[in-house]
Amino acid sequence: MAVQFEDSFNRKFYYLRLSITDVCNFRCTYCLPDGYKPTQKNSSFLTLDELHRVVDAFADCGTSKVRITGGEPTLRKDFTDIVAMIAAQEGIEKVAMTTNGYRLEKHAQQWRDAGLTNINVSVDSLDPRMFHQITGENKFHQVMRGIDAAFDAGYEQVKVNAVLLKDLNSGELPAFLNWIKDKPIQLRFIELMQTGEMNSLFKNHHLSGVSIRNHLIANGWIMKVRSQSDGPAEVFCHSDYAGEIGLIMPYKKDFCDSCNRLRVSAVGKLHMCLFGDYGVELRDLLQDDSQEESLIARIQGALANKKQSHFLDQGHTGMTPHLASIGG
Ligand code: GTP
Ligand code: 5AD
Ligand code: SF4
Repeated sequence: MAVQFEDSFNRKFYYLRLSITDVCNFRCTYCLPDGYKPTQKNSSFLTLDELHRVVDAFADCGTSKVRITGGEPTLRKDFTDIVAMIAAQEGIEKVAMTTNGYRLEKHAQQWRDAGLTNINVSVDSLDPRMFHQITGENKFHQVMRGIDAAFDAGYEQVKVNAVLLKDLNSGELPAFLNWIKDKPIQLRFIELMQTGEMNSLFKNHHLSGVSIRNHLIANGWIMKVRSQSDGPAEVFCHSDYAGEIGLIMPYKKDFCDSCNRLRVSAVGKLHMCLFGDYGVELRDLLQDDSQEESLIARIQGALANKKQSHFLDQGHTGMTPHLASIGG
């Protein structure tokens, strides 16, 4: 193994978030409210061969988990091949994916068979009408059947992501908690992050994760001891509930101390952080297997400049146009 990826603050990066497409078929209010529009003219997404070289280099430097993201990753026709390629890579123990759940019902088993181990599904409301309002798609029941199919297919873990928005779905906190009483799901509340394309939504609907945290603690939820695999999430459990709660609160001061992930965008840029960084071009070094050493050297060079926290880099906050462009 080459040297483990590490930054100047002793954070080790064993987790790669690999975006394979910017395209999404949902129109979530906080992400792509007007639907997907190509951002870069004449750009194409990394090919299977290029993705293979990314994963190879990361695995050689200690990466053991790859999360496939987008856009909606399952819209790629070669999605199953990408899963199988990553699963076959020596050193990769977890092949995860974040999805809107649209194609899960039909394909959960096929992707599991190809080597996918973990799935995170976005469900922003348990009320079909509110789900439609937030996502722009009337697909609540289809997504829920998809989650059941993922359970049936025997995934190592199925997590559900919900972004609670003030005056929209924030009143659903009790319903969400009730939902996991008998369901062994890790439900993650993700605090809305400000992006370049939705300032007013942020101003009107941002709900602090700390208020959810206070509600949980007041109702007997206990914070679990942090494991390395949690990354920046705080996880809570309760003896009366089969499920768990994960909180992602990016505006909390120490949030970035436990950062364990690097991101590669669908067009081959390395991103050190989800909050506004311009990305480092990798694609020119993904054209031939013989370039791996230079590729690793470029990633290490970029890591040496990773900031301790996005709070120290306020000037750039908000520049990311929407999270679909980096893969969340
Ligand atoms: P695990 O891999 O299971 O730990 O899940 P995850 O929550 O990291 O992955 P997922 O793709 O489900 O993340 C959902 C959302 O959480 C992302 O789209 C982001 O909004 C947010 N998120 C995840 N990781 C980070 C992070 O490192 N920083 C920030 N600011 N937000 C993150
Ligand atoms: N703030 C927080 N989370 C976001 N996501 C997308 N945009 C944002 C944002 N602005 C996350 C949602 C979804 C995942 C794919 O991306 O949590 O589950
Ligand atoms: Fe890492 Fe940036 Fe997320 Fe902080 S905000 S945890 S530095 S990716």
